[in-house]
Amino acid sequence: MVRKKILLLPGDGIGPEIAAATATVLDCFRADVEVAEGLIGGAAIDQEGVPLSDATLAMAKASDAVLMGAVGGPKWDTLPFAARPERGLLRLRKELGLFANLRPALVFDALAESSTLKAEVVRGLDIMIVRELTGGIYFGEPRGIEDLGNGERRGVNTQVYTTSEIRRVARAAFTLARARKGRLCSVEKANVMESGVLWREEVTRLHAEEFPEVALSHMYADNCAMQLVRAPHQFDVIVTDNLFGDLLSDLAAMLTGSLGMLPSASLGAPGAPGLYEPVHGSAPDIAGKNLANPLAMILSAAMMLRLSCGLAQAAERIEAAVGRVLAKGLRTADLAAPSGTPVSTRAMAAAVVGEVQGSAG
Ligand code: IPM
Ligand code: MG
Repeated sequence: MVRKKILLLPGDGIGPEIAAATATVLDCFRADVEVAEGLIGGAAIDQEGVPLSDATLAMAKASDAVLMGAVGGPKWDTLPFAARPERGLLRLRKELGLFANLRPALVFDALAESSTLKAEVVRGLDIMIVRELTGGIYFGEPRGIEDLGNGERRGVNTQVYTTSEIRRVARAAFTLARARKGRLCSVEKANVMESGVLWREEVTRLHAEEFPEVALSHMYADNCAMQLVRAPHQFDVIVTDNLFGDLLSDLAAMLTGSLGMLPSASLGAPGAPGLYEPVHGSAPDIAGKNLANPLAMILSAAMMLRLSCGLAQAAERIEAAVGRVLAKGLRTADLAAPSGTPVSTRAMAAAVVGEVQGSAG
């Protein structure tokens, strides 16, 4: 069998530590995957002068999947906007055409008590947020800051969506919903935004045309934020635009106990390499201290094996291993009960590797 090609991009802050931890888990599957490393974000700026070089982009395009740690940090915060680490990630998403960002919020049984919400509100939760990733206000034109010459300046960004952009991400979300509990909630602000009106109309039309068996509902984004903390079990799959998806997925992440638990997959056209990354950022405050929770990136690797490598069994072994490690009470500092002693990044990864190896493949 030809081994699947993975491009690992550790990035900045805690990125290198959680990437190294995740590489030890992937090493359990070295018969099936080969891992090459590249630079992104501030690390790429320091060594190559740009947050994502053409060479790294070419490597990404030639891979089956890209697995990223995190980008950004105070060292690069004063750079002009277009030169910042985050632009590397945004360029990668755009160039790979990764329009559908899947962000599952899954509460492991052992972590129901770790959420800031009451355990009975979050226990057993399994939500999938599908965030549009290559359009909307993140990329819309015109954009920029202009000097009005009268002592005032004007900052502009543009929220814009076309029919095809809405339909392709909605189709991805309907397809997921059909394979899950059969419920899709489409989220926008059609009460104040024309792009939201269009979003609602196009999702409704696609539903009638292709997915009548899925139960479709619509919700305004502000109400969705409220409902996610009030009664999250009402949701199965949520589909929403780039900016609302950014906000709502951070919110949903905290239902699960820690932002350190949430993986993500970004998918484009069939056959294009997917991008997999933890939803959390580079956490510069704890970088280099062997404290970070590697589980979001390890779970991202599991999603990658399933969705881009055709290795569903390997993915299940990793996810089950994470569940068992948590059930045994191991916690990194972000999750540790006030009384318990947290384990390090490396110790958490070693425990997952031990469980993976204990489960014969
Ligand atoms: C995310 C992050 C990114 C985003 C940043 C780092 C550009 O917050 O993946 O959610 O806003 O999309
Ligand atoms: Mg975000």
